[in-house]
Amino acid sequence: MKKTFSGVQPSGELHLGNYLGAIKNWVSMQDEYDATFCIVDLHAITVSQNPEELRRHILDVTKAYIALGIDPDKSNIFVQSDVSAHAELCWLLNCTVARMGDMEKMTQFKDKSGKDGSERASVGLFDYPVLMAADILLYDTDVVPVGEDQVQHVELTRTLARRFNKIFGDTFIVPDVKLNKEGKRVMGLDDPTKKMSKSATSEYNYITLMDSADIVSKKIRKAVTDSGSEIVYSDDKPALKNLINIYSLLSNKSTDDIENDYVGKGYGDFKDGLTDVIVNFLTPFQEKINSISDDKVKEVLNEGAQKAGKQAEQKMQEVKEKIGFVV
Ligand code: AMP
Ligand code: TRP
Repeated sequence: MKKTFSGVQPSGELHLGNYLGAIKNWVSMQDEYDATFCIVDLHAITVSQNPEELRRHILDVTKAYIALGIDPDKSNIFVQSDVSAHAELCWLLNCTVARMGDMEKMTQFKDKSGKDGSERASVGLFDYPVLMAADILLYDTDVVPVGEDQVQHVELTRTLARRFNKIFGDTFIVPDVKLNKEGKRVMGLDDPTKKMSKSATSEYNYITLMDSADIVSKKIRKAVTDSGSEIVYSDDKPALKNLINIYSLLSNKSTDDIENDYVGKGYGDFKDGLTDVIVNFLTPFQEKINSISDDKVKEVLNEGAQKAGKQAEQKMQEVKEKIGFVV
């Protein structure tokens, strides 16, 4: 069975971009693949986190995975920091195959280190893509389902795997990326030129999975639209295209059918319909998430860490032998 691995940072509430870009694919892949889904807390601390909030977010993201349809009986769910091999393999890759030249090309570091440049950014933020490569390579991953912003990091992973294999002999699988065609880049509701993001300055940028019906309605009403009044799916209307994509992915209706449903109607009707589609998706999800206890989550994570730990340990033995450590 082919293997898949992916993860989300526990750095805040999940939003529709996380679900439509990544987690929706995970749910459909878990029957076909030997699947591992991680809560990547070591990645989250590359920018500062409040310890109490971090602890809460780790539990809440795990609950969200389960409530969105990741079945712990089919897929392994665990917290990255519970398996020390991630940080260890990251160091080994840092020294053996990751080059400053590769790392300086990473656009996410440039974006995240912000206007002040890299002066005050953590060294961890710079090294973040190598830790991500370690996550993926530890589990002999064939396919990595992520949103478009992570493609460059998976490409780096492929480069590091090939380089390691060339120097030390066949060790790592070179993984492929998997994108969701329409969901790979969900754009901000307040600005269709930027991706939907937890770290956006305005809450009108995103819809979180915990937003109430009232808030969803308010945010959709305020969402920017394009000039003209017809509901058409076109690259010339990027704001509307984004909203139609969200509509389509959550309702499983084709974009053609959505266009047809709104012939002769305007943005007001369309936005009412979109609000209903989002609320109809979020309401059962929120009921489910609220029914999962912290104890249940801790049980799932304990089992997950043990299983992942064993797999990772085996891989680390192989890597250490290849590098020349006495094992
Ligand atoms: P993060 O919240 O950065 O940990 O991202 C978790 C997953 O969600 C990754 O696979 C991202 O590529 C994906 N993702 C985040 N934001 C978006 C977005 N606006 N559109 C599509 N995918 C996204
Ligand atoms: N860097 C990814 C993000 O922010 C999260 C991540 C960490 C990940 N390790 C991973 C995704 C391994 C896929 C595979 O979205």
